[in-house]
Amino acid sequence: MSIRKMKESDLPQVFAIQNALAFQEWNERQFLAEIHASYALCVVFEQNNRIDGYAVFHLMGPDSELLSIAASPEQQRTGIGSALLNEGLSRLDFASGDRMFLEVREGNEKARRFYEKHGFEAYAKREKYYSDGENAVLYRKA
Ligand SMILES: CC(C)(COP(=O)(O)OP(=O)(O)OC[C@H]1O[C@@H](n2cnc3c(N)ncnc32)[C@H](O)[C@@H]1OP(=O)(O)O)[C@@H](O)C(=O)NCCC(=O)NCCS
Repeated sequence: MSIRKMKESDLPQVFAIQNALAFQEWNERQFLAEIHASYALCVVFEQNNRIDGYAVFHLMGPDSELLSIAASPEQQRTGIGSALLNEGLSRLDFASGDRMFLEVREGNEKARRFYEKHGFEAYAKREKYYSDGENAVLYRKA
């Protein structure tokens, strides 16, 4: 098992996970922009020569943002999401006084429990934030 930086050649497997989960609709252009952006950290979780998860973070001074995190459907609840999040926090050198932000669909209970387990707290809600009218809940970890 290893967690390493995402490469362009990983994108077919990343898309397979994204499409199976149907939780976001990033296209290739968006992923490529993140892979090459100096302020972004894109990582994949690899085991048995297979990518089973990925995460994308942005770093802006002491504040960072978790833009996306996913574990393949058949491998969920086995610690992949936690490993990716912890890798991001350590590579971003998350220190006392730093903050990490994210937003999540209000009805995404699984992700909300995951973030809460990792010390994120909900601090605001954006009504009808998503194009289908669902609210976003904003979380931060300090
Ligand atoms: C959110 C997500 C990344 C979590 O990844 P994961 O690898 O399944 O999570 P982990 O195995 O590391 O779980 C860590 C903790 O999160 C919580 N958690 C994870 N899945 C949960 C579930 N289905 N129900 C309740 N709590 C859950 C639990 O507290 C869990 O600890 P425990 O198993 O000891 O009780 C994963 O569910 C996922 O890919 N979801 C679809 C994509 C998504 O919604 N991403 C977030 C929006 S950007």
